[in-house]
Amino acid sequence: MSINYSEKIPNNVDLANNKTLQRALEHWQPHFLDWWRDMGPEDSTQFDVYLRTALRLDPKGWAHFDYVKMPDYRWGIFLNAAEPDRKIPFGVHQGEPAWQEIPGEYRSNLRRLIVTQGDTEPASVEQQRHLGLTCPSLYDLRNLFQVNVEEGRHLWAMVYLLHAYFGRDGREEGEALLARRSGDADNPRILGAFNEKTPDWLSFFMFTFFTDRDGKFQLSALAESAFDPLARSCRFMLTEEAHHMFVGETGVGRTIQRTCEVMQQHKMSDPADARKFGVIDLPTLQRYLNFHYSVTLDLFGADVSSNAATFFATGLKGRFEETKIGDDHQLNDAEYPVIQVGNGQLVTNHVSALNAINERLRDDYIKDTVAGVGRWNKIIEKHGIPFELKLPHKAFNRRIGPLSELRVNPDGQVITEAEWTQRHTEWLPSREDMEYVRSLMGRVIEPGKFANWIAAPARGINNQPVNFEYVRFN
Ligand SMILES: [Fe+2]
Ligand SMILES: [Fe+2]
Repeated sequence: MSINYSEKIPNNVDLANNKTLQRALEHWQPHFLDWWRDMGPEDSTQFDVYLRTALRLDPKGWAHFDYVKMPDYRWGIFLNAAEPDRKIPFGVHQGEPAWQEIPGEYRSNLRRLIVTQGDTEPASVEQQRHLGLTCPSLYDLRNLFQVNVEEGRHLWAMVYLLHAYFGRDGREEGEALLARRSGDADNPRILGAFNEKTPDWLSFFMFTFFTDRDGKFQLSALAESAFDPLARSCRFMLTEEAHHMFVGETGVGRTIQRTCEVMQQHKMSDPADARKFGVIDLPTLQRYLNFHYSVTLDLFGADVSSNAATFFATGLKGRFEETKIGDDHQLNDAEYPVIQVGNGQLVTNHVSALNAINERLRDDYIKDTVAGVGRWNKIIEKHGIPFELKLPHKAFNRRIGPLSELRVNPDGQVITEAEWTQRHTEWLPSREDMEYVRSLMGRVIEPGKFANWIAAPARGINNQPVNFEYVRFN
């Protein structure tokens, strides 16, 4: 199906034949653009950026590349094609036809899920808005902007659902999504990690590796929803999300590569010496990793959650790759192991699998993350450097749920408050680390040039050369 770009809001949801909905969205659109101008990438409205835009929804045609000024980006509403006769894959309604409308009794829970997802999208744009001023290359600047416009489109995807299926309540939520601000004391974004700062490009790459990957798992769980329009929206969003994680994985990977090159060149035995040459030493990378990983683990919510059980049992939110799991998809008698606190120690308890839905999604996320970190370690290994990046223990630095009651070191040992106070800067970025990383952030905008702390990518975007003019400043 082709998308009609002469329409004010490009879409494949037949908006033209739903005047009320079209008017509601056309009313919201200028508010969105005001938000973009206020909170989108700083000083960027004049730039021509080589961006990907969805034109068709078939696998080969959904990514069209061209120069676009970001405020003119055609944020649209795209749903994956409907699966004919799709049946609900889990919960008490398993086997019934997927819902095209929302059953009244599930309205408020579904609204909450959609708003929570929707809120993360503009939040990350806000967190990243200053980064363009210190980009390590044109290639990276373009990738930042691509991520930003697509997060804007993800907001559109959720606002469409709110407008189309939740009436006046939905329209009010749509306005509130533009009113909250990341890190604002009075009106913050809903989830903790989306109120943290993204002050430098290392943080950006870690964020897109770890936190956009949380997005992948949340969207995957919602892509199983009995509410078919939500499932189809999330499936399309997942195709975009893959690029965000690519930006994170290769961004950190190129940082590691550059550090290793310098270490090899100078035959360094102490990794800390890398700073003398203006690159980011591996122990600092490990501390950034520890921070972003632990903050992101909190996003999955309480390890034992009756809300999560309700969302699952009623068919609103499934598990990662629900249909590939070989169980009864009901979980009434199943158990799941959860790490909890008992007598001041970490203990593994088996709890009702229904109540442990969050924990299971967190564990699926961890598996995916382990694989990515393994690929980073290959780069270090290839340079013959005896250093290994490690994911800290699941209970390390948690701020939500029972695990937040304990101090746990990266190896998973419970430690005293005094030891934490004394040693936490070995494990989490210190002020000095952050100042050092910030000191490396200059603005490199000559095509094909890269900041000293990061290696060039193996290839360009959309088969363009690495030295392509990915952004024109005018
Ligand atoms: Fe997103
Ligand atoms: Fe994303």
